[in-house]
Amino acid sequence: MSLYITTPIYYVNARPHLGHAYTTIIADTYSRFKRLCKEDVRFQTGTDEHGDKIAEAAQTAGIHPKEYADRISSMFREAWPSLAIRPDNFIRTTDEHHVQTVQKILQKVHDQGDIYLGSYSGLYCRGCERFLTEKELVDGKCPDHQTAPTPISESNYFFRMSKYQDWLIDHIQKNPDFITPERYKNEVLSFLSEPLEDLCISRPKSRLTWGISLPFDDDFVTYVWFDALINYITGIGYPDSEKFSGYWEVAEHVIAKDILKPHAIYWPTMLRAIGLAPYKRLHVHGYWNINEAKMSKSIGNVVRPEALLQNFGVDTVRYFLLREMSFGLDASFSDENIIARQNSDLANDLGNLFSRALTMINKFANGIVPAPADLEPADKELAGAAVNMVTEYTAQMNNFAFNRALQAVWAIISLANKYIVSSEPWVLAKDPAKTDRLKTVLYNLAETLRLIGLVLTPVMPETTLKMAMALGSTEDEHSRQNLVDHGEWGLTAPGVKINLGPSLFPRLEKKVGAPTKDGQKKMKEMSPKSKEAESDAGLVTFDDFKKLDLRVAEIKTAEKIKKSDRLLKLTVMAPEERTLVAGIAEYYKPEDLIGRQVIMVANLKPAKLMGVTSHGMILAARDEQGRLSLSALAGGVTPGSKVS
Ligand code: MSP
Repeated sequence: MSLYITTPIYYVNARPHLGHAYTTIIADTYSRFKRLCKEDVRFQTGTDEHGDKIAEAAQTAGIHPKEYADRISSMFREAWPSLAIRPDNFIRTTDEHHVQTVQKILQKVHDQGDIYLGSYSGLYCRGCERFLTEKELVDGKCPDHQTAPTPISESNYFFRMSKYQDWLIDHIQKNPDFITPERYKNEVLSFLSEPLEDLCISRPKSRLTWGISLPFDDDFVTYVWFDALINYITGIGYPDSEKFSGYWEVAEHVIAKDILKPHAIYWPTMLRAIGLAPYKRLHVHGYWNINEAKMSKSIGNVVRPEALLQNFGVDTVRYFLLREMSFGLDASFSDENIIARQNSDLANDLGNLFSRALTMINKFANGIVPAPADLEPADKELAGAAVNMVTEYTAQMNNFAFNRALQAVWAIISLANKYIVSSEPWVLAKDPAKTDRLKTVLYNLAETLRLIGLVLTPVMPETTLKMAMALGSTEDEHSRQNLVDHGEWGLTAPGVKINLGPSLFPRLEKKVGAPTKDGQKKMKEMSPKSKEAESDAGLVTFDDFKKLDLRVAEIKTAEKIKKSDRLLKLTVMAPEERTLVAGIAEYYKPEDLIGRQVIMVANLKPAKLMGVTSHGMILAARDEQGRLSLSALAGGVTPGSKVS
């Protein structure tokens, strides 16, 4: 099996932003996933360099469009490696092979009578680089660019798109996966229920010269979309390369909903006219919004990938984007949301599981993964769930449901954390009769972590390499891991030596990055939301509330702190063991607290009180008489559960 996956080629009128990064990360993750399934993959991205927009931007910059395009195109090319994005090909529409092939195609389609000269009057949106229909306007303006289109009347060449309308409707209906998610397929079918107009595919040189000349009329350049869409085939060597026939039949495009129409209507009909099969699948995602508005240069609310990388690191950014957006729907970006994900999903759930398991293997088994002994029901449950997770993850990834794939992985992380609590390795370690049991538990944890690391490789390449190396693998072995040969339970070899390293993810405070003025300024620029929150004094937003990591903590031990009447030292399970200091000694006897479940703020900065460091705070109420009562739960909740 093989895959050819593409992103849109981005306009070179502006630097890359988070929206471009998202689509490209999706394509990269999917290509890494397919490689993990041992498939042969080609992944292409690139830049779209002709047309009005670029000519205008170059004019403003006072340089030739090609020089301008060179400059911005290299910014895109250079942005990707820092996001761990590894395309196999970066295409530019100014590449010689592309230009020549576009001309050959135009000539062919013209010769067969599918391109004709006509006249056109219409409403042209420069932002969209296309004519809009009256129906598409909202209050007389383009809804995407908030500008009124310009009425234009001129002679132009047209592609007989209408001729292929019935074929296209039929193709979409017969191939339910052709456009996904379904809402976008329905949108296209609804558009196609009205008669399709022919497509204007030229611009007179009197108005625009920055484009590919029509081979049959030198007074015109090619409409940028007709030129740009063809990148998907020139990038794999159409017409002569052997690569072309192998990859074209497995082509999948990823785009956002802004460019649905060119991809779902112009492109398949163009392919039909060229005499080629349509692409296999079109994956359409929603917008990253900031305060309900689409992030875009024209609105001026862009988030730059460099700022995110500096503050969060590549794996957190990738994980966040894939986990937070439900593919197909819009999602909202804010630095608070990223911090919350890093603290709860990455530092707390995954990071804690990893460090607890490795610390225990180190402490109780001299750093060597032991051989498992007889399995108990809890072990079988964990192993069964881990294998099911691999199946579920694979199905969701194949469906482009990245958030669901990650949910499946986090379910096993949570189960493994519970498994630690219920099997209590620290208790087993004290009893020589329980050595076999301890070995089984430690082995199962190492094996679960191996599988978690394996499936997370496409999403978090750096972290999963660290995980694999800590679990005793080499970089080379790690690069050869795949789901086909290594997705089963029980492949960790007993006897392997683990390598304890630093924790995978730090816990972030509200403000991240360097605590300099400059750093703080950066965070504010990144999120207009935080400005809004500042002005709403007294009220908290849901995002503010989400910053608090509230957890159920079960009190294991309690003792008075010497020289203090007020303070108790508590050890709680949440689900990991932590020490807390609580000012409740006047109201509670230590022995009355054992076994109680209380609510704890888990992401509070550690503080030292009377020589004891407290890693969190438990919640209590104090009434007007000064009486204190601890927060309590009805009971029976798994320690460490989130309180929301
Ligand atoms: N050049 C055309 C595409 C030609 S493909 C043959 C183009 N370029 S673009 O630079 O405007 O890129 C649009 C794409 O960037 C979107 O389809 C999407 O992939 C990505 N995004 C831009 N802004 C985005 C958001 N705010 N949210 C999500 N994706 C966004 O259109």
